[in-house]
Amino acid sequence: MPSPLRKESPTGSQQPDMTVARGGRLPETVDEAMQGLNQSVEVDSALWRVDILGSKVHARGLARAGVLTEAEANTLVRGLEQIEAEIESGQFVWDPQREDVHMNIEARLTEIVGPVGGKLHTARSRNDQVATDLRLYTRSAVDDVIRALVDLERTILSRAVSEIDTLMPSYTHLQRAQPSRLSHHLMAWHEMLSRDYNRLVSARDGLNESPLGAGAVAGSGYPLDRAWVAKELGFERPMRNSIDATGSRDFLMEVVSALAILGVHLSRISEEIVIWSTTEFGFLTLSDAFSTSSSMMPQKKNPDVAELIRGKAARLIGHLTALLVLEKSLAFGYGRELQEDKEPIFHAMRDTMLSLRALTGALATCTFRRDRLEGALEQGHVCATDLADYLVMSGVPFREAHHIVGGLVREAETEGVQLSELSVDVLAQAHPSLMRPEAREALDARAAVERRKLVGGPAKACVLKEAEEAERRWVVALSASSWRRI
Ligand code: ARG
Repeated sequence: MPSPLRKESPTGSQQPDMTVARGGRLPETVDEAMQGLNQSVEVDSALWRVDILGSKVHARGLARAGVLTEAEANTLVRGLEQIEAEIESGQFVWDPQREDVHMNIEARLTEIVGPVGGKLHTARSRNDQVATDLRLYTRSAVDDVIRALVDLERTILSRAVSEIDTLMPSYTHLQRAQPSRLSHHLMAWHEMLSRDYNRLVSARDGLNESPLGAGAVAGSGYPLDRAWVAKELGFERPMRNSIDATGSRDFLMEVVSALAILGVHLSRISEEIVIWSTTEFGFLTLSDAFSTSSSMMPQKKNPDVAELIRGKAARLIGHLTALLVLEKSLAFGYGRELQEDKEPIFHAMRDTMLSLRALTGALATCTFRRDRLEGALEQGHVCATDLADYLVMSGVPFREAHHIVGGLVREAETEGVQLSELSVDVLAQAHPSLMRPEAREALDARAAVERRKLVGGPAKACVLKEAEEAERRWVVALSASSWRRI
């Protein structure tokens, strides 16, 4: 190993040719079939920006450690900046022969700066390099997802506030159950997604550590300041173990499992959009900008936005499965199959962003049809529980009250009317206290909703308070310098 303190370094031609991934003990060419399997640049070139960032900090770190001179580090950083400009302007030519993003950039660097380019990889392996790139990429992609999720959350919140007076039935088993309000239902979506936000914030916290300096597996003998490098890259700290740092991908599993759960949640909301926009339900009309038509049936207006988001949830579950299985039974230390972690994480991020943006737009522009939502309260005896509760107030045990009202529902069904339309005689026969006018009030849906004013209930004041508190939490979360759980 060269002396880490040596200031002058040779610029001669003894440097190995870094323009190919091979070298070392092997000849420069591989079989064509191997080449196809081996190369990953078509996928991992997406990491170029974080790869260059990591390399610049590594170059500076090598100079701090006395492994490179300041002048050499400056040359490397300037060369990397030129590559950045070339990639940004589309001039850069990615070469699959050079295997991956790391080797493509390093080879171009040597073309630009000469043999000193071969010094960049001192004290570094592609194993700690790619682990660092992935953490940097994922951290920033998670930030985008969190921002898009907060947008969706606040869109739902604002619809909940503007629809505060719209009533609707709540459902169990997709059967009308009890009277509620649309905003209570929308706040249920919001609440569920708030947990997704928290999961993503936790996963982001967990990944924010630096693998650089772990080398291929067993660290490096150069006096690198790993804590300085970590700080320069915005990481909380260096990873504590070099074997773990290079071979573990649970940070990806954690993020993508948060995305898969989020996808499942978006699919539940989407399912309701599909159901609600049927002629049969008619609760919601999507705006034209978020609807599609049929190539054959001119009358069709389809909720494809929601169906596609359900489809993306299936893919997200697949991406998570791929990551879990990639690492399953992997012995400690980097294994090359880890190269296959890129597509799942890239696609998971893309699928999630597409879903979040489209759902936000669809919900911001849809029309909730109050006539249909409130009309649905008129059928289905949704105040039956309230009538039973009324009997309980007059001293009837709940089980008995449940039985009495069940009999009345049967009677109403036989007559083809609603509970509220039964005659006083029929009610009186079932139980004498049902003769009182208060019994009729128990069957008023709006009053029934307002009675449910426990924390978490649908009464107007409860839902408004819930929405106001939620909005306050978002404002605080967005003004903080880093994401915090809410
Ligand atoms: N392209 C590789 C990956 O994404 C980089 C690491 C290669 N390491 C190795 N020892 N061959 O995982």
